[in-house]
Amino acid sequence: MSPASLSVISDAVSVRVPAKVNLHLGVGPLRADGYHDLVTVYQALSLYDDVTVAQAATLEVTLRREGGRGADAAEVPLGDDNLAVRAVRALGEWADRDPRVTIEIVKRIPVAGGMAGGSADAAGALVALAALWKLDIPRAQLLEIAAGLGSDVPFSVQGGTALGTGRGEQLMPMLARGELHWVLAFAREGLSTPAVFDELDRLRADHSETFPEQNPRPDELMAALAAGRPEQIAPLLHNDLQPAALSLQPGLRRTLRAGIDSGALGGMVSGSGPTCAFLCADADAAVAVAAELSGAGVARSVRTAAGPVGGATRQTPGR
Ligand code: C5P
Repeated sequence: MSPASLSVISDAVSVRVPAKVNLHLGVGPLRADGYHDLVTVYQALSLYDDVTVAQAATLEVTLRREGGRGADAAEVPLGDDNLAVRAVRALGEWADRDPRVTIEIVKRIPVAGGMAGGSADAAGALVALAALWKLDIPRAQLLEIAAGLGSDVPFSVQGGTALGTGRGEQLMPMLARGELHWVLAFAREGLSTPAVFDELDRLRADHSETFPEQNPRPDELMAALAAGRPEQIAPLLHNDLQPAALSLQPGLRRTLRAGIDSGALGGMVSGSGPTCAFLCADADAAVAVAAELSGAGVARSVRTAAGPVGGATRQTPGR
């Protein structure tokens, strides 16, 4: 290896960023700015994208799909629409620096899967670039830039278990005892988040009594999380976007049923979908549910994940 390439590698910064599920996703009415007020409980899961940034002659993003389990790399925009590119530009503006860096994304979180995969890459790029440039940026400022990039980006930076309000960008860390064990069923086709919110608005306009807009805080779920009892948490999982996701991809009903039939305590569409997330009693139960669900042929692929895990975290070089 030449000394030049060695120095490029030693200057690179890698950050690992988790996927999320929403254990509760309450959606209020459509606001004047095109967003909906949310009351949501996020949890970060042990399914990660890795984002590496390094100084370069031009701003460039490359994407590597890993293991065939993650996303379809072809669906990710690699130009200015890429959320990690937007993150780099936003931080460059804040720091008044020329954002010429390469961004390498190793993708395992499904694209358009309702697990904040794009937000994870933006969060990773922010944290990695702040480290590469040795910026002394206050956490609150970083989270504000994150919120400007997307509603889920602050949570991708923060991780853990948190209550999200506003567009989902205002976070309050939550007590969640112990570890929860999940099985994730990835769908063959993605779903666009705005399309799912639009579909919910349409369902509400047509059937307001079936899809109400009240949006209370999920106190019972929060108490169950604090107690750390999966069997108490499972019946409290709730997603207002689920009927909209099912309306756009009716086949997901079969996936949800198959997960419960396989022995999961509870299941739901994750965020705007179409990934389905199933809560299991423990790690062994999750492995058994994943094996049975794989055999049912109702998903592109199936894997287990645990939560909560931390947010965007710098990886130690050489490991
Ligand atoms: O914030 P983000 O860019 O991730 O949102 C993508 C889209 O999802 C928004 O343009 C909007 O259509 C929808 N959305 C919403 N209400 C939210 C969050 C997202 O309607 N709280």
